[in-house]
Amino acid sequence: MAMVDDIERVLISKETISECCERMGKQIEHDYEGKNPIIIGLLKGCEPFMSDLVKNIGCYIRTDYMDVSSYVGTESIGHIIIKKDVDFDVKGQDVIIVDDIIDSGQTLHDIIKFLKDRGAKSVEAAILLSKNVARKHEIDVKYVGTTVENEFVVGYGLDYNESYRNLGFIGVLKKEVYEK
Ligand code: IMP
Ligand code: MG
Repeated sequence: MAMVDDIERVLISKETISECCERMGKQIEHDYEGKNPIIIGLLKGCEPFMSDLVKNIGCYIRTDYMDVSSYVGTESIGHIIIKKDVDFDVKGQDVIIVDDIIDSGQTLHDIIKFLKDRGAKSVEAAILLSKNVARKHEIDVKYVGTTVENEFVVGYGLDYNESYRNLGFIGVLKKEVYEK
């Protein structure tokens, strides 16, 4: 069976994703002209989005990546484990974090704090999907692609058990896939 046969329905088409990347890229270009920001993608989910987004930014930028896992040790205290740190020194720099989706807001909250503690001049976020849920942390995401309802989505960087990141669109899996 082909990978695409695991998809029950398409939520966000390739065309819509492409429109989001174009619009967000132009906004970033407008806001950061002359500032040479560091755009930090969060691995691995950011990858297709980061790649398409940066091609739509026409001003000077620098790119970097972080790989973090976020876990909650006790009830409300978030911790991040840094698996891959940024190569740039972010002190005094304008930073934009790029990720596939914001759900509880925990990951973004922790990373923003981490980068600000290191002395970043400004930290904003560019997130393709905003999940329509009550956030654990209210975060002002400056650049948002589009919203999705509270269901588990895959494709275009988003995985289920490390698969489906390579789909060109975003969709919902068939129920039987979870029951395999
Ligand atoms: P948060 O820390 O709860 O905001 O979650 C953000 C991270 O959880 C994202 O970067 C994704 O890796 C993962 N995630 C949240 N919702 C989904 C989903 O619907 N599909 C796949 N991954 C998800
Ligand atoms: Mg992720």
